[in-house]
Amino acid sequence: MRRLWRRLRLRLMRVLELFSGLGGWRYALRDRGSVLAAYDVSEAANATYALNHGQEPRARELATWPARELADLGADTWLLSPPCQPFCRMGNHQGLSDLRSRAFRHLMDLFPQAPPDRLVLENVGGFLGSDAHALLSERIRAHGMHPLDLQACSSRFGLPNQRPRVFVVASRRPLKALPMPDLLPGPLAEFLDAEEDERLYLPPEVLARHRHGLDLVVPEDRRSTCFIGGYGRRFVGSGPFLQTERGVRRFSPSEVARLLGLPAGFRFPESLSLEARYRLLGNGLSIPVAAWAIDHL
Ligand SMILES: C[S@@+](CC[C@H](N)C(=O)[O-])C[C@H]1O[C@@H](n2cnc3c(N)ncnc32)[C@H](O)[C@@H]1O
Repeated sequence: MRRLWRRLRLRLMRVLELFSGLGGWRYALRDRGSVLAAYDVSEAANATYALNHGQEPRARELATWPARELADLGADTWLLSPPCQPFCRMGNHQGLSDLRSRAFRHLMDLFPQAPPDRLVLENVGGFLGSDAHALLSERIRAHGMHPLDLQACSSRFGLPNQRPRVFVVASRRPLKALPMPDLLPGPLAEFLDAEEDERLYLPPEVLARHRHGLDLVVPEDRRSTCFIGGYGRRFVGSGPFLQTERGVRRFSPSEVARLLGLPAGFRFPESLSLEARYRLLGNGLSIPVAAWAIDHL
């Protein structure tokens, strides 16, 4: 019994959650391990994380993270979602040359000094084949780990929302891709708030201006496009809008949270603006997809 308990304990991951945002990796981790520390520069992200997870992330600029701090933490697993703009369809595709990749580059410099035993990195499709992907794969192999590249979309996981993402999973033991679920998503109606917030309806002049570019869905639909961080500010190409008998409205932050698979108790600090809520959600993970990626370890 004691040996079994010891083996189980050894398999529990000791996690660093890097670029932690609202803490999607921590939800996806479930009981597979514990988060030793989370890191993010954003005050709004850290306040939301602390409210939901009861642990304050470290407000550290990761581009200047000291190697000693990393080594002292004694983590064996990295779960990370570096900024995706350098690899986005709508970004500039500058990969490692983009300033927003500085923190990722620094992590790759630190990697040889305190390599983890396992990691999962999440990003957008454009990451695959980029210079950053090549650098990460090189670091993984140079430290005797085995990488596995995965592509998955939340629409296969029973959620009526598309969020195509890539995951680079790596471990000291060879990895095999797990079967991907193929669950029929429920209708959007199941993800809507019991009471609508009238302020989410678009004023007639805004609707007239953007009507042809808007991605309109109805509650019966079982699919919708990806929400991005600019959903609160932009109309075209930022995510779906709901057509009801009363007009056209944005999805509320709590509806977006449900469509990402965040748990029912998830909430934002009262003081956080609507825009900031959408930004955090638009940067966030689809929880069941991230959990599936972790299950490869
Ligand atoms: C794609 S989001 C990660 C989302 C996260 N996985 C979640 O579940 O919400 C990237 C995060 O990295 C943070 N970030 C960007 N550059 C950073 C840096 N140089 N150092 C620390 N955090 C950074 C941003 O504030 C943002 O919250």
